[in-house]
Amino acid sequence: MVFTPGELEKRDLQGKAVVVIDALRATSTMIEAFENGCAAFIPVLTVEEAKRKVAECAKPDFSLGGERGGRMVEGFQFGNSPRDYPADKVCGKTVVMTTTNGTRALVAARGAAKVLIGAFMNRTALAKRLIQEGRDVLMACAGEKDQFCLEDTLCAGAIIDSLEKAGAAVSLSDSGLAANRLFHSSEDSLCRKLLECEWGRYLESIGLGPDVEICARMDSSSIVPVFEEGRIFLDR
Ligand code: MLT
Repeated sequence: MVFTPGELEKRDLQGKAVVVIDALRATSTMIEAFENGCAAFIPVLTVEEAKRKVAECAKPDFSLGGERGGRMVEGFQFGNSPRDYPADKVCGKTVVMTTTNGTRALVAARGAAKVLIGAFMNRTALAKRLIQEGRDVLMACAGEKDQFCLEDTLCAGAIIDSLEKAGAAVSLSDSGLAANRLFHSSEDSLCRKLLECEWGRYLESIGLGPDVEICARMDSSSIVPVFEEGRIFLDR
Protein backbone atom coordinates (compact mmCIF):
# COMPACT_ATOMS: atom_id res chain seq x y z
CA MET A 1 0.00 0.00 0.00
CA VAL A 2 1.18 3.54 -0.70
CA PHE A 3 -0.22 6.71 0.80
CA THR A 4 0.77 9.24 -1.86
CA PRO A 5 1.37 9.52 -5.63
CA GLY A 6 5.01 10.43 -4.86
CA GLU A 7 5.52 7.00 -3.23
CA LEU A 8 3.69 5.32 -6.11
CA GLU A 9 5.99 6.94 -8.67
CA LYS A 10 8.97 5.20 -7.01
CA ARG A 11 7.43 1.69 -6.94
CA ASP A 12 8.11 -1.10 -9.39
CA LEU A 13 4.60 -1.83 -10.67
CA GLN A 14 5.45 -4.63 -13.08
CA GLY A 15 2.93 -7.46 -12.92
CA LYS A 16 0.86 -5.76 -10.22
CA ALA A 17 -2.79 -4.80 -9.99
CA VAL A 18 -2.91 -1.24 -8.65
CA VAL A 19 -6.10 0.07 -7.08
CA VAL A 20 -6.21 3.85 -7.25
CA ILE A 21 -8.25 5.38 -4.44
CA ASP A 22 -9.42 8.96 -4.13
CA ALA A 23 -12.44 8.36 -1.93
CA LEU A 24 -13.16 12.13 -1.58
CA ARG A 25 -13.93 12.46 -4.41
CA ALA A 26 -12.40 11.68 -7.81
CA THR A 27 -12.70 7.89 -7.96
CA SER A 28 -16.16 7.95 -6.31
CA THR A 29 -17.30 10.57 -8.81
CA MET A 30 -16.04 8.48 -11.73
CA ILE A 31 -18.01 5.47 -10.52
CA GLU A 32 -21.16 7.59 -10.21
CA ALA A 33 -20.61 8.97 -13.73
CA PHE A 34 -20.24 5.45 -15.17
CA GLU A 35 -23.42 4.44 -13.36
CA ASN A 36 -25.07 7.25 -15.32
CA GLY A 37 -23.76 6.17 -18.71
CA CYS A 38 -20.45 8.03 -19.03
CA ALA A 39 -18.34 6.51 -21.85
CA ALA A 40 -14.83 7.21 -20.52
CA PHE A 41 -12.53 9.46 -18.52
CA ILE A 42 -9.12 10.61 -19.70
CA PRO A 43 -7.11 11.64 -16.61
CA VAL A 44 -4.54 14.41 -17.09
CA LEU A 45 -2.37 16.41 -14.71
CA THR A 46 -3.10 20.02 -15.53
CA VAL A 47 -5.95 22.31 -16.53
CA GLU A 48 -3.96 23.41 -19.59
CA GLU A 49 -3.40 19.81 -20.71
CA ALA A 50 -7.10 19.05 -20.32
CA LYS A 51 -8.10 22.08 -22.40
CA ARG A 52 -5.53 21.25 -25.06
CA LYS A 53 -6.71 17.64 -25.33
CA VAL A 54 -10.35 18.59 -25.74
CA ALA A 55 -9.46 21.27 -28.30
CA GLU A 56 -7.29 18.80 -30.27
CA CYS A 57 -9.99 16.12 -30.32
CA ALA A 58 -12.68 18.64 -31.32
CA LYS A 59 -15.39 16.01 -30.81
CA PRO A 60 -18.84 16.99 -29.53
CA ASP A 61 -18.90 14.11 -27.04
CA PHE A 62 -15.64 15.26 -25.35
CA SER A 63 -16.00 17.44 -22.24
CA LEU A 64 -13.81 18.95 -19.54
CA GLY A 65 -14.16 17.85 -15.92
CA GLY A 66 -12.40 18.30 -12.60
CA GLU A 67 -11.58 20.68 -9.82
CA ARG A 68 -9.11 22.94 -8.16
CA GLY A 69 -9.67 23.66 -4.48
CA GLY A 70 -12.71 21.36 -4.69
CA ARG A 71 -14.50 23.71 -7.09
CA MET A 72 -15.26 23.31 -10.79
CA VAL A 73 -12.64 24.94 -13.02
CA GLU A 74 -13.83 27.94 -15.02
CA GLY A 75 -14.81 26.94 -18.54
CA PHE A 76 -15.24 23.25 -17.63
CA GLN A 77 -18.55 21.45 -18.19
CA PHE A 78 -18.19 19.12 -15.16
CA GLY A 79 -16.76 19.52 -11.67
CA ASN A 80 -15.62 16.75 -9.34
CA SER A 81 -18.88 16.20 -7.51
CA PRO A 82 -20.76 12.94 -8.04
CA ARG A 83 -23.84 15.16 -8.36
CA ASP A 84 -22.31 16.93 -11.39
CA TYR A 85 -22.75 13.80 -13.54
CA PRO A 86 -26.46 13.04 -13.97
CA ALA A 87 -27.43 10.75 -16.86
CA ASP A 88 -28.92 13.54 -18.98
CA LYS A 89 -25.58 15.39 -18.91
CA VAL A 90 -22.96 12.65 -18.96
CA CYS A 91 -24.46 9.74 -20.93
CA GLY A 92 -22.15 8.87 -23.86
CA LYS A 93 -19.57 11.53 -22.93
CA THR A 94 -15.80 11.18 -22.66
CA VAL A 95 -14.59 13.47 -19.90
CA VAL A 96 -11.02 14.75 -19.90
CA MET A 97 -10.50 15.05 -16.16
CA THR A 98 -7.97 16.83 -13.97
CA THR A 99 -8.12 16.85 -10.17
CA THR A 100 -5.57 17.87 -7.58
CA ASN A 101 -4.59 14.42 -6.32
CA GLY A 102 -6.75 11.74 -7.93
CA THR A 103 -5.61 12.14 -11.51
CA ARG A 104 -1.99 12.45 -10.37
CA ALA A 105 -2.26 9.05 -8.68
CA LEU A 106 -3.83 7.59 -11.83
CA VAL A 107 -1.06 8.91 -14.04
CA ALA A 108 1.53 7.52 -11.59
CA ALA A 109 -0.11 4.05 -11.78
CA ARG A 110 0.26 3.74 -15.56
CA GLY A 111 3.11 1.19 -15.53
CA ALA A 112 1.08 -1.47 -13.70
CA ALA A 113 -0.25 -4.64 -15.35
CA LYS A 114 -3.77 -3.62 -14.33
CA VAL A 115 -5.10 -0.36 -12.90
CA LEU A 116 -8.54 -0.42 -11.27
CA ILE A 117 -10.64 2.40 -9.83
CA GLY A 118 -11.50 1.99 -6.13
CA ALA A 119 -13.90 3.65 -3.72
CA PHE A 120 -16.16 2.72 -0.82
CA MET A 121 -18.97 2.58 -3.38
CA ASN A 122 -17.55 -0.38 -5.31
CA ARG A 123 -15.35 -2.09 -2.72
CA THR A 124 -16.97 -5.54 -2.87
CA ALA A 125 -17.22 -5.68 -6.67
CA LEU A 126 -13.61 -4.52 -6.79
CA ALA A 127 -12.49 -7.23 -4.35
CA LYS A 128 -14.12 -9.89 -6.53
CA ARG A 129 -12.41 -8.48 -9.61
CA LEU A 130 -9.03 -8.48 -7.83
CA ILE A 131 -9.48 -12.13 -6.92
CA GLN A 132 -10.24 -12.93 -10.59
CA GLU A 133 -7.13 -11.02 -11.67
CA GLY A 134 -4.99 -13.12 -9.32
CA ARG A 135 -2.16 -10.58 -9.19
CA ASP A 136 -0.24 -8.96 -6.37
CA VAL A 137 -2.32 -5.96 -5.32
CA LEU A 138 -1.04 -2.51 -4.46
CA MET A 139 -3.52 -0.06 -2.94
CA ALA A 140 -2.55 3.43 -4.08
CA CYS A 141 -4.03 6.32 -2.11
CA ALA A 142 -4.22 9.70 -3.85
CA GLY A 143 -3.55 11.48 -0.54
CA GLU A 144 -3.61 15.24 -0.20
CA LYS A 145 -0.85 17.20 -1.94
CA ASP A 146 1.51 14.24 -1.56
CA GLN A 147 0.73 13.76 2.13
CA PHE A 148 -1.18 11.05 3.98
CA CYS A 149 -4.94 11.42 4.09
CA LEU A 150 -7.25 9.45 6.33
CA GLU A 151 -10.20 8.93 3.98
CA ASP A 152 -8.19 7.05 1.33
CA THR A 153 -6.55 4.92 4.01
CA LEU A 154 -9.98 4.02 5.43
CA CYS A 155 -11.11 3.12 1.92
CA ALA A 156 -8.09 0.86 1.38
CA GLY A 157 -9.02 -0.81 4.69
CA ALA A 158 -12.61 -1.27 3.46
CA ILE A 159 -11.40 -2.93 0.25
CA ILE A 160 -9.10 -5.23 2.25
CA ASP A 161 -12.10 -6.11 4.42
CA SER A 162 -14.07 -7.05 1.26
CA LEU A 163 -11.13 -9.13 0.00
CA GLU A 164 -11.07 -11.05 3.27
CA LYS A 165 -14.85 -11.53 3.24
CA ALA A 166 -14.66 -12.81 -0.35
CA GLY A 167 -12.21 -15.47 0.82
CA ALA A 168 -8.97 -14.08 -0.64
CA ALA A 169 -5.75 -15.34 0.91
CA VAL A 170 -4.59 -11.92 2.05
CA SER A 171 -1.07 -11.30 3.30
CA LEU A 172 -0.98 -7.71 4.49
CA SER A 173 1.87 -5.25 4.76
CA ASP A 174 1.94 -3.26 8.02
CA SER A 175 0.35 -0.31 6.20
CA GLY A 176 -2.46 -2.56 4.91
CA LEU A 177 -2.94 -3.97 8.39
CA ALA A 178 -3.16 -0.47 9.86
CA ALA A 179 -5.65 0.60 7.18
CA ASN A 180 -7.81 -2.43 7.85
CA ARG A 181 -7.80 -1.82 11.62
CA LEU A 182 -8.64 1.85 11.13
CA PHE A 183 -11.52 0.92 8.84
CA HIS A 184 -12.95 -1.48 11.42
CA SER A 185 -12.86 1.25 14.05
CA SER A 186 -14.85 3.55 11.73
CA GLU A 187 -17.20 1.40 9.68
CA ASP A 188 -20.27 1.86 11.90
CA SER A 189 -20.18 5.63 11.46
CA LEU A 190 -18.31 5.95 8.19
CA CYS A 191 -19.93 9.14 6.88
CA ARG A 192 -19.30 10.92 10.17
CA LYS A 193 -15.69 9.73 10.16
CA LEU A 194 -15.22 11.02 6.60
CA LEU A 195 -16.67 14.38 7.61
CA GLU A 196 -14.09 14.53 10.43
CA CYS A 197 -11.18 14.17 7.97
CA GLU A 198 -9.48 17.41 6.89
CA TRP A 199 -10.78 17.20 3.33
CA GLY A 200 -14.26 16.12 4.48
CA ARG A 201 -14.39 19.17 6.78
CA TYR A 202 -13.28 21.39 3.92
CA LEU A 203 -15.88 20.00 1.51
CA GLU A 204 -18.59 20.55 4.12
CA SER A 205 -17.36 24.11 4.70
CA ILE A 206 -17.88 24.96 1.01
CA GLY A 207 -21.35 23.41 0.92
CA LEU A 208 -20.34 20.01 -0.49
CA GLY A 209 -21.19 17.86 2.57
CA PRO A 210 -23.79 15.91 0.53
CA ASP A 211 -20.96 14.64 -1.70
CA VAL A 212 -19.30 13.04 1.32
CA GLU A 213 -22.54 11.25 2.10
CA ILE A 214 -22.66 9.82 -1.46
CA CYS A 215 -18.97 8.79 -1.35
CA ALA A 216 -19.59 6.96 1.97
CA ARG A 217 -22.27 4.66 0.50
CA MET A 218 -20.53 1.33 0.74
CA ASP A 219 -21.31 -1.12 -2.05
CA SER A 220 -23.77 1.20 -3.79
CA SER A 221 -22.19 0.20 -7.12
CA SER A 222 -20.98 -2.99 -8.75
CA ILE A 223 -18.98 -1.11 -11.38
CA VAL A 224 -15.18 -1.54 -11.56
CA PRO A 225 -13.66 0.89 -14.07
CA VAL A 226 -10.23 0.07 -15.52
CA PHE A 227 -7.52 2.46 -16.64
CA GLU A 228 -5.74 1.31 -19.80
CA GLU A 229 -3.84 3.14 -22.51
CA GLY A 230 -4.76 6.54 -21.15
CA ARG A 231 -8.51 5.90 -20.80
CA ILE A 232 -10.72 4.86 -17.90
CA PHE A 233 -13.66 2.75 -19.04
CA LEU A 234 -15.82 -0.28 -18.24
CA ASP A 235 -14.38 -3.40 -19.84
CA ARG A 236 -17.14 -5.82 -18.87
C1 MLT B 1 -8.56 15.38 -5.59
O1 MLT B 1 -8.24 14.80 -6.65
O2 MLT B 1 -7.73 15.98 -4.91
C2 MLT B 1 -9.96 15.31 -5.04
O3 MLT B 1 -10.76 14.48 -5.75
C3 MLT B 1 -10.42 16.66 -4.59
C4 MLT B 1 -11.94 16.89 -4.51
O4 MLT B 1 -12.64 16.46 -3.60
O5 MLT B 1 -12.43 17.57 -5.40
